Amino acid sequence: MSERVRVGLVGCGAISANYLKNAANLPILEVVACADLDLGRARARAEEFGVPRAVSVDELMTDPEVDLVLNLTIPAAHAPLGLQALQNGKHTYTEKPFAVDREEGRRVLEAARIARLRVGCAPDTVLGAGIQTARKVLDDGKIGRPVAFAAQMLGRGPEGFHPDPAFFYQPGGGPMFDMGPYYITALLNLLGPIRRLSGMAAIAIPDRSVATGPKQGQKIPVETPDHVCGMLEFENGAVGTLVTSFAVRHGDYDRKFPILIYGEEGALRVPDPNTFDGAVQVRGRDDAEWQEVPHAFPTGYGRSVGVADLAYAIRSGRPQRCSAEQGFIVLDVMQAFLDSSREGRPITPSIQYERPAPMPADLPFGTLDG
Ligand SMILES: NC(=O)c1ccc[n+]([C@@H]2O[C@H](COP(=O)([O-])OP(=O)(O)OC[C@H]3O[C@@H](n4cnc5c(N)ncnc54)[C@H](O)[C@@H]3O)[C@@H](O)[C@H]2O)c1
Repeated sequence: MSERVRVGLVGCGAISANYLKNAANLPILEVVACADLDLGRARARAEEFGVPRAVSVDELMTDPEVDLVLNLTIPAAHAPLGLQALQNGKHTYTEKPFAVDREEGRRVLEAARIARLRVGCAPDTVLGAGIQTARKVLDDGKIGRPVAFAAQMLGRGPEGFHPDPAFFYQPGGGPMFDMGPYYITALLNLLGPIRRLSGMAAIAIPDRSVATGPKQGQKIPVETPDHVCGMLEFENGAVGTLVTSFAVRHGDYDRKFPILIYGEEGALRVPDPNTFDGAVQVRGRDDAEWQEVPHAFPTGYGRSVGVADLAYAIRSGRPQRCSAEQGFIVLDVMQAFLDSSREGRPITPSIQYERPAPMPADLPFGTLDG
């Protein structure tokens, strides 16, 4: 087995428990320390998951026993902490979004290039059996050349269940920045590079208030679009839509298959890209019914598999699958939908995208390189 990569986790909030639970199934990862602005949270997580040390953020960043900083903090801290990790000679992997704007994102790409260190970015749901199997259906030509697609994430917004939802309606929030990374990362992995895109966005429901918890009734200022419609043209010729909304009641679509891809010879139902092991269905041109496609890749992975993939990539020198470049392009596309809407013009992505290699199909669970 490859030598283990020692991970220092920063940001011990809600999603960190999920990462730590899954990391325990990935032998290449050894979580050696965790940190948070709130040291009490770091201590609690360390105790819960048997992480040897809970330390301050600065201690984690300079810890000689940390090879890779896993950054699970809030979006505004993704790039600053990523840069701090790189300055201290550490590889880093960040939760989505890659950064809050393109300028910040570019600074991270440049710092990684100069330091010759790796940067990875969530989501890693695309490495799950669901999206990987859907990709294989397309790559094997089962539905012919993809010509069209429709992707959607429709809801009425998080204020119904989230006790402190104001940040969802500030710039850097909205339905596209919150959920778009899952959809755009999946579409890139399925269809390849984007040629151009355009967007239409609106503040559809400006009058909002918190509906639960101690802040119930408090008004929520809505300062970014809560309804964002994107149109995308891929280099392979496929043209389709990505609609994300916090403004829709009774959004009536099949949540098991929120992405549909239509090919010259059939159609593909893609599972929810915010899950790992969703079912995949295909329907050939003469099929009377949809057929379930057996998963062609190991199931059971969860958040952390992208970090493990990065760890293998560090050890072998190969490219990682959930790369900084992919994270940057996703950010660039989300921003471009809003820019296009404001400026009334189509936009070309600002850097070239290369699809990562598919996941290995035949290796035992937990092993990503032969
Ligand atoms: N909660 C989810 O279901 C979920 C799912 C997928 C992805 N994410 C993403 O994961 C990230 C974290 O989300 P969360 O729900 O865990 O948030 P959270 O608010 O529960 O946790 C964030 C933690 O980061 C800490 N933090 C903030 N700034 C920091 C800094 N500068 N230095 C050190 N620690 C700092 C906070 O104290 C907090 O403990 C976000 O980018 C979010 O988009 C969350």
